[in-house]
Amino acid sequence: MYDWLNALPKAELHLHLEGSLEPELLFALAERNKIALPWNDVEALRSAYAFNNLQEFLDLYYAGADVLRTEQDFYDLTWAYLLKCKAQNVIHTEPFFDPQTHTDRGIPFEVVLRGIKQALVDGEKQLGISHGLILSFLRHLSEEEAFKTFEQAMPFRDAFIAVGLDSSEMGHPPRKFQRVFDKARSEGLLTVAHAGEEGPPEYIWEALDLLKIERIDHGVRAIEDERLMQRIIDEQIPLTVCPLSNTKLCVFDDMRQHNILQMLERGVKVTVNSDDPAYFGGYVTENFAALYDSLGMTQEQAKRLAQNSLDARLV
Ligand code: ADE
Ligand code: ZN
Repeated sequence: MYDWLNALPKAELHLHLEGSLEPELLFALAERNKIALPWNDVEALRSAYAFNNLQEFLDLYYAGADVLRTEQDFYDLTWAYLLKCKAQNVIHTEPFFDPQTHTDRGIPFEVVLRGIKQALVDGEKQLGISHGLILSFLRHLSEEEAFKTFEQAMPFRDAFIAVGLDSSEMGHPPRKFQRVFDKARSEGLLTVAHAGEEGPPEYIWEALDLLKIERIDHGVRAIEDERLMQRIIDEQIPLTVCPLSNTKLCVFDDMRQHNILQMLERGVKVTVNSDDPAYFGGYVTENFAALYDSLGMTQEQAKRLAQNSLDARLV
């Protein structure tokens, strides 16, 4: 029924690799690494995936990531995601990874990076999927800790195209990370940031003006500020929107209230992405399908959204 959506060539520009950890793989890795889990089985874990806000999700997401221990684990995680891309005609992906989620548990930075990067390189060769990797800082931690992570990353500078900013938005405005983003840009890296997911339009202004971002991750609250909307339209700043995530995390109560098509029709360069597909009920095609089912998205709109994703690539 959604074959035509699946067949559209598209890019994914907002995907957390840790958020693509399906419960089945989570259990398999726990067994491989001899880790006891607080859930009896896959079904029990899946039934815990009910969230009232971003923080409730993040608590489970960080707990789930604890099964990722070895280079092979990170390879397997990334490879499983790339197979989904292949099945959904995602021809290019710019995934995030959160090194601090792992280094804070004692996993060396290079173990994380080598596993992810090797899978991405193999995905390029064997599946024909191109990529650009984005190192994301956790905003609930300090800027000093972000600087430490940046220093760990520098020996692998060429493995990344950009730095990003994710985790708990409220109370952690973009300005907190201005200096580390300056440093990243001075090394030739591009920048993106989550802004306006739960946080106010003011955080989007800061991300644009202080962090000098190329794209806004989420950004759905921009619609509350007309001057900001005009700027985003005039400058054609892409928004990486994640519809299923937004309804699962109660940013919108119901998919029928989602503003993505309204933004599209106003000339905003919006794109469709999956964010954390293992937790939110689907990959890119399922996100497109939700817009078709709940918002009456037309074929022409779907094509424009897919084309936007290809146009908004950083590489
Ligand atoms: N980390 C993983 N998914 C996220 C989201 N939707 N918002 C902020 N941080 C995240
Ligand atoms: Zn995200």
